[in-house]
Formats: sequence, structure tokens, C-alpha cells
Amino acid sequence: MNLILKKRQLTPEIAWFEVEAPRIARRWKPGQFIIIRPNQDSERIPLTIVDGDPGRGSIVMVVQAVGKTTRITVAKEEGEYLADVVGPLGEAASIEKAGHVLCVGGGVGVAELLPVARAFRQAGNFVTAMCGARTASLRILDEELRQAADEVIWATDDGTAGFHGNVVQCMAAWRAQQNAPPATVHVIGPIPMMRAAADLTRQWGVPTFASLNPIMIDGTGMCGGCRITVGGKVRFACVEGPEFDAHQVDFDELIRRTNAYRAQERLVLEQHECKLKLVN
Ligand code: FAD
Ligand code: FES
Ligand code: MG
Repeated sequence: MNLILKKRQLTPEIAWFEVEAPRIARRWKPGQFIIIRPNQDSERIPLTIVDGDPGRGSIVMVVQAVGKTTRITVAKEEGEYLADVVGPLGEAASIEKAGHVLCVGGGVGVAELLPVARAFRQAGNFVTAMCGARTASLRILDEELRQAADEVIWATDDGTAGFHGNVVQCMAAWRAQQNAPPATVHVIGPIPMMRAAADLTRQWGVPTFASLNPIMIDGTGMCGGCRITVGGKVRFACVEGPEFDAHQVDFDELIRRTNAYRAQERLVLEQHECKLKLVN
């Protein structure tokens, strides 16, 4: 059981949690993730470790309610418990001194980007964080990003803040204003956005890393749920990733596999909401 020490509602759908997890807080590295069960009868879901404080013995996770298990998690309050938290899992992000690093995040991927952007800056890089949201009020962690990166650029789909358009269109417009391309790009977010970003940086000739989000069940390389193909080779994102060379990822397969259980996921969510209505 892991105690929720603090909760902040970042948007109606996205919540920030500080959770007691002393052993994970001592060992985690940017890019790694945890697998949690909010309740004992819940399925397991992977979440990025957004921050960790060995002194407080706590880690931070940011969760977007998209289905049953994330909704149950987002509904938790301070003083309540998660049934279990396992981690740190996966390989750390590859952080090196490259020069100018462009960190691109979309949606809740902005939270996942934060520790990576901070680590690149601590390694001596100039870091541009470029983030996308549907509208100004759905921007998350702006203050934290401004502390972590050298500059922060927002793109909103409706143009209510920053660049008017999606984050990949923003990348293209930004590059047109730069004298030289960035040394490396790191991208985290919805799969279509990562694929479009990778297509663009392939044209730029810039090495690009994507933090992938396939379906994960055990997180230890045993179940095969997170199987992906990178450069024609089978890889397991939970133990060999989640970060991979974005130019080599088979995104079509990734989309197919993450959509494989959509019908069941919709049904489970409908049943969950139906039970909530009965309770209320
Ligand atoms: P469901 O209705 O069950 O599923 C909705 C969609 O989420 C599915 O169609 C599928 O694409 C995806 N999904 C479902 N089950 C899983 C699963 N076991 N593993 C991965 N994806 C799944 N989300 C955040 O909000 N914050 C994070 O920091 C974050 N970090 C992640 C890090 C990694 C390494 C991975 C792989 C995923 C991460 N996710 C994160 C996504 C999160 O795990 C899914 O949104 C969550 O599992 C959905 O569960 P659900 O039951 O609420 O939704
Ligand atoms: Fe089971 Fe990766 S989640 S092999
Ligand atoms: Mg689910």
C-alpha cells in the first residue's frame, strides 16, 4: 500500500500525485516508469515517474483519466492509498551532452517530458521544451517546465496560447526560424504525434528518440504485451525501452497493437460508469 501524500488537479482529466515510495525515490532515473494498481482488484497500468525525492521518500506521477483504471486513479484523494506501486522499471532516457536539445511533448506526455528536459539541461545542454495542448486552459506544468528547460514554447490547437496549431506544425515553424537544427530531439506523446515528429526530424537529419507507450502488463519482459518492432527487430519496450530511435519504430504496428482491445476497454468503462451512477 502506498500513501498519497499530495494531490493537485491539473485539468478536469489530469491529476498530479505525490506518493510515498521511498525505495523507488532512491533509485529512479528520468525516463523510467512504475506499474501501479490503484485498488487490489484493479488491472496494472504503467505510469512515468515524473519526479522523485529521496529525502521525502516520495515520487510524483501525473495521470490522465482515459479509461476505467486511470479514472479510478484520478479519483483518489490525499490520505488514500494505491494498492501497489512497482518500479523503477525500464531503461533510463539516454541523456548526453549534445548542445541544443529539443524536447517535444503532447497532452499528458508533457508530464513525462519534464524529468527528461531537466536531465538534459543538468547535463549541460540548451533545452527547448515544445509542448502541445488542445487549448490554453489544458496546458499543464508550465511553471515546472520553465524551471527545467531554457525555453518553453506552447502550441494550442485553437490558438488560445502560443503557436496556433499542433505541436508538430509548431516544430516545423520553429525550425524555419532557426539558423541550425537542434543536435537531438526527444519526443513523448500520442503515437500519431510521435510518428509525425519523427517524419519531420528525418527530413532535418536529426537523431530523434521517442518514449513509446505500448500496452504493458507485467513490465518485466515476461508477458510479451509491449512487443514492438524497431529497425525490423522485435523489442520489448518495458525492459529495453520505453525510449527508442524514433526513425526506426514501426508506428503502424504500435497503433494496431495499442488499439487491439478498444471494444473491451469501452465496455469495461461503460460498466464502471454505470455502477458509479447506481452508487450516486
Ligand atoms: P483503457 O480504457 O483500459 O485503455 C485506454 C487506452 O490506453 C488503450 O486503448 C490503450 O491504448 C492504452 N492502455 C490500456 N491499457 C494499457 C496498459 N496496460 N499499458 C499501456 N497502455 C494501456 N499515462 C498517463 O496518464 N501518465 C503517464 O505518466 C503515463 N506514462 C506511461 C508510461 C509508459 C511506459 C506507458 C507504456 C504508458 C504510459 N501511460 C501514461 C499510459 C497509461 O498507462 C494508459 O493510459 C493506461 O494504462 C490506460 O488505462 P485505462 O484502464 O484507464 O484505460
Ligand atoms: Fe510484459 Fe513488457 S509488459 S513483456
Ligand atoms: Mg484498462
